[in-house]
Amino acid sequence: MNKIPVAILGATGSVGQKFIELLTNHPWFEITELAASERSANKKYSEATKWVMSSRLKPELAGMEVKLCKPTLNSKLVFSALDASVAGEVETEFANNGYFVISNAKNHRFDEDVPLLIPEVNYNHLEIIKGKNGAIVTNPNCSTIGLTLAIKPLFDAFGIEQLNVVTMQAVSGGGYPGVPSLDILGNVVPFISGEEEKMKTEPLKILGSLKDNKIEHANFTISAQCNRVPVIDGHLETVQIKFKSKPTKNEIIEVWKNFKSLPQKLELPFAPKQPIYYFEEDHLPQPRLNSNLEKGMAVSVGRLREDEIFDYKFVVLSHNTVRGAAGGTLLAAELMKAQNYLNGIL
Ligand SMILES: NC(=O)c1ccc[n+]([C@@H]2O[C@H](COP(=O)([O-])OP(=O)(O)OC[C@H]3O[C@@H](n4cnc5c(N)ncnc54)[C@H](OP(=O)(O)O)[C@@H]3O)[C@@H](O)[C@H]2O)c1
Repeated sequence: MNKIPVAILGATGSVGQKFIELLTNHPWFEITELAASERSANKKYSEATKWVMSSRLKPELAGMEVKLCKPTLNSKLVFSALDASVAGEVETEFANNGYFVISNAKNHRFDEDVPLLIPEVNYNHLEIIKGKNGAIVTNPNCSTIGLTLAIKPLFDAFGIEQLNVVTMQAVSGGGYPGVPSLDILGNVVPFISGEEEKMKTEPLKILGSLKDNKIEHANFTISAQCNRVPVIDGHLETVQIKFKSKPTKNEIIEVWKNFKSLPQKLELPFAPKQPIYYFEEDHLPQPRLNSNLEKGMAVSVGRLREDEIFDYKFVVLSHNTVRGAAGGTLLAAELMKAQNYLNGIL
């Protein structure tokens, strides 16, 4: 099979580098263009960026010339890891010129004609771009992805009335170089700009239902508190949840263990075999031990117990730059290809 050429916007940043790492040897996609700001354009990629991934950068990518983020690129499938200060306009320009943009930036997440996609959770929301010759699809915020994957099967089985979440988010979530070391080493920063608003609203769009080609948001209350902690990769979240119909502990565990969705059925290359892993051990999941489960694409849950205020509480862990960013985007692109949403590209 001929591979589909892809371009990466924001290729020099932290998520951009993760894209390059994950796309190495991808069976369907091949990086043909890298783009970033005027600071990086016209330089060799290895000169424009400080490579901080643990894998080696392939020579053909190291020597690739960085381009500007203009819709003159040859690849019609574009993965965006652009800073939010520019992503809004740039992504619109690309979509208007016949490109399919899958973005990690926040700018278009609430546009009515843009799916906010977690492939296992709301693959049907892609219907709103059906037949289009160019569109934007967005990846949710990194903490939202772990939380929403973990609650999706519970939402379907038991209904949710209220949810409270407290996050402990890794420093890689802030991009490179991110939070200054003197602010975060031996410390916790109890504020991440804009994060709590995203966590309160994004899950409701993702869990919303599609009616007349519009997404009706789910209707329950989420309270969120977000903290930056001195962990490199892996966002840990503690969740308290009140259901519409309270299940037993075993019913919740069964629902998690049995959860599989369309990406698993289609055996997409980046789909985890099992999207949610339940840990019985009291001390798990932990970022250093479990973030890389299924190459960083699975979500771990544990410490499920009854709550004194809500019905239950538990812990969720997910890899923020893989499942929460570049890996989630690749899975979205695979789903779009497999379901024939990439008009004019195949
Ligand atoms: N890190 C995570 O875990 C994570 C998770 C989910 C979503 N996100 C989102 O993904 C996006 C990228 O995050 P990141 O952590 O990779 O950020 P980052 O390390 O700061 O990288 C930002 C990228 O944007 C480019 N850029 C900045 N200004 C530009 C301009 N005027 N024109 C064109 N390109 C420009 C930069 O290029 P230069 O090097 O040329 O300046 C760089 O490639 C953000 O919107 C972020 O919110 C991040």
